[in-house]
Amino acid sequence: MNRRNFIKNSSLASLGMLSTRAGSQEKQSENTKRTDKLNIGFIGVGLRGRDHLELALLRPDCNVSAICDTDPLSIKEAQKLAEKAGKGELKVFTGEDRAYLKMLEMKSLDAVIIATPWLWHTEMAIAAMKAGKYTGVEVSGGFSLDECWQLVNTHEATGSHLFFLENVCYRRDIMAVLNMVRKDLFGELIHMECGYQHDLRNVKFNDGKQPYGGGVEFGEKGFSEAKWRTTQSLNRNGDLYPTHGIGPVSKMLNINSGNRFLYLTSTASKAKGLHEYIVNHPQGGNSHPNATIEWKLGDVVTSVLKTINGESIVITHDTNLPRPYSLGFRVQGTKGLWMDVNSSIYTEGLNDKHKWQPAKEFLEKYDHQLWKKYENDARGAGHGGMDFFLLHEFVECAKANASASIDVYDAATWMAITPLSEQSIATGSMPQPFPDFTRGRWTERTNGFAVEQ
Ligand SMILES: NC(=O)c1ccc[n+]([C@@H]2O[C@H](COP(=O)([O-])OP(=O)(O)OC[C@H]3O[C@@H](n4cnc5c(N)ncnc54)[C@H](O)[C@@H]3O)[C@@H](O)[C@H]2O)c1
Repeated sequence: MNRRNFIKNSSLASLGMLSTRAGSQEKQSENTKRTDKLNIGFIGVGLRGRDHLELALLRPDCNVSAICDTDPLSIKEAQKLAEKAGKGELKVFTGEDRAYLKMLEMKSLDAVIIATPWLWHTEMAIAAMKAGKYTGVEVSGGFSLDECWQLVNTHEATGSHLFFLENVCYRRDIMAVLNMVRKDLFGELIHMECGYQHDLRNVKFNDGKQPYGGGVEFGEKGFSEAKWRTTQSLNRNGDLYPTHGIGPVSKMLNINSGNRFLYLTSTASKAKGLHEYIVNHPQGGNSHPNATIEWKLGDVVTSVLKTINGESIVITHDTNLPRPYSLGFRVQGTKGLWMDVNSSIYTEGLNDKHKWQPAKEFLEKYDHQLWKKYENDARGAGHGGMDFFLLHEFVECAKANASASIDVYDAATWMAITPLSEQSIATGSMPQPFPDFTRGRWTERTNGFAVEQ
């Protein structure tokens, strides 16, 4: 109920969040449609799609028009959510890989959220934009630079917006640190660190009922991400999932809005983690067929990016070794720094010389306006509440048919890190230049992301 009240009583438009979008100088959408009630469809209602679905079902300004998935189990779970929300049975598109195209033919559908395996994202996002839908797509790394350009080209040709659903940009401490950056606490930014450091060896291995193999099995024998994500470690060597780290960092550094990435170099360690896991797992062992696999993905992939404004950024991808979860943020400028791994801040003049101070008091002092005001409304939403802000922003942008807060240029630039890092690793860590997906407009675009009023 809290969340419903929030949605009734406020909008990001009223907070001024829609008026200062980075994309405001771009070609305006040819679709001028605005709506108070968004007809929204979901392509992919697996674990992540259902997070978004659950939040959308709660909103009085959303009508969930249809869902599409190839897996009857995912559809069943999605229907349960609809039933729980008192919405009755949802219209379903299923039965073949491209059933989603039929869903996109629905004239009444204003917006779609795509939360399928990575390989489907671009095909589906392009088709959705071509069908005139306001398109939200879950995060992933790209498979090629060409794919990133296709997203940009389709947006520019159709005027349909693409919202890249990078939820970490809305994490509470991240938004507070963004405030600190904007209020000059750290001085001029010099160096950033971030990454995706998440032990995924047993990723989503079962639903509690079926023997899915505890991460030893993958592909057809796996469950959820183990069905499709683990094979990426088999065939690719690069930073496969850069956006949770680079998204927030890019917003702090005004990437594509007065700043841009110039080039990166990447280096991969050897690959041992998945093999060790399989041979030591009770459901695996030395004689398990997967024990002989040669995994291509280095256990730790480190990329260094350079921006045109002179900052360096280190991104780490580390998903196949035992470790606690951490995105490993470090935001460092001429006056001090924040690090999330020890949740500490150092600012020259404010701290005892060379002593860390707990970040807590800074995070409270610089808490973002949105979080301060709607903390209770976001309570219970996924990933510590940030998923609430993400979906809310998506819905508000889609209702207004406004440029996305995290737009197609962000998507293309962040996704490009993956193929560029693969290319760098394949060539002995040679530097790889970033394409300028804004075609020069980065010099005039402004960063309107979560600007406080
Ligand atoms: N931002 C986050 O915090 C976060 C968290 C988890 C996952 N994700 C991302 O969300 C996406 C989905 O991940 P997930 O964990 O939900 O995976 P999942 O495997 O649980 O769900 C994917 C769903 O897509 C369905 N699907 C596959 N091919 C399809 C097709 N052709 N048409 C329609 N449906 C199809 C599958 O049947 C499944 O139900 C990935 O991009 C993942 O990286 C993001």
